[in-house]
Amino acid sequence: MRTPIIAGNWKMHKTMPEAVEVCRRLEEMVEDSAVDVVVCAPFTALSALSALGLTKLKLGAQNMHFADEGAFTGEIAPGMLIDVGVQYVIVGHSERREIFGETDELVNKKVRAAITHGLTPILCVGETLDQRKEGKTETLVQGQIRKAFAGVAPEAASEVVVAYEPIWAIGTGETATAEQAEEVIATIRATLSELYGTEIAEAIRIQYGGSVKPANISELMAKPNIDGALVGGASLKPEDFSAIVKF
Ligand code: PGA
Repeated sequence: MRTPIIAGNWKMHKTMPEAVEVCRRLEEMVEDSAVDVVVCAPFTALSALSALGLTKLKLGAQNMHFADEGAFTGEIAPGMLIDVGVQYVIVGHSERREIFGETDELVNKKVRAAITHGLTPILCVGETLDQRKEGKTETLVQGQIRKAFAGVAPEAASEVVVAYEPIWAIGTGETATAEQAEEVIATIRATLSELYGTEIAEAIRIQYGGSVKPANISELMAKPNIDGALVGGASLKPEDFSAIVKF
């Protein structure tokens, strides 16, 4: 049985005091839920959030560099995240891929670095609207999965969280239907099964992301292969995010 995992991706929103206020409230609101709940806050809030000593909410970062340290101005190393109590890190979000030019090769390095340091990667994959229209979704997503998992050992692979996020559904209000999401997520699981065998593929948690809100979460979670959600906009408000966690 896979424990569902709902993660909030705050992107470039919330100052440190705002983040503290929201997480204090959230912790109380989701305390009794049976799912894993993660908040991926901006780097500048992580240390303060960690100091709150929250137990239900786990901390995530939204990106990191793959190197242990070095001359990489403006970057954050995996060990620095561990140092402030972070357990999860989003890797290869489409905004990183599209706006900051992250390639599958770079994403793979980050996945492996996260694992080496004991961080759980939330690996994002997904297609653009044009790619979907051209019927390339499955091939593209399968390729992203194969490249991201290159060199990842089976035991480590089972701990990775995958987030399927169709780019056309991110921040647009346009959600993929539960059927569309399930279809691609089942393909992802099949690819993982080819790479690692059924047992490991069945253990890997795969989220859907893209305009998830309280109104559509139950339908998505009812699908057999969907194990949770990566939530952007709706994770900024404690009322909405807690309603999603309690799907
Ligand atoms: P959204 O973002 O929920 O605002 O569509 C999802 C994401 O980018 O992870």
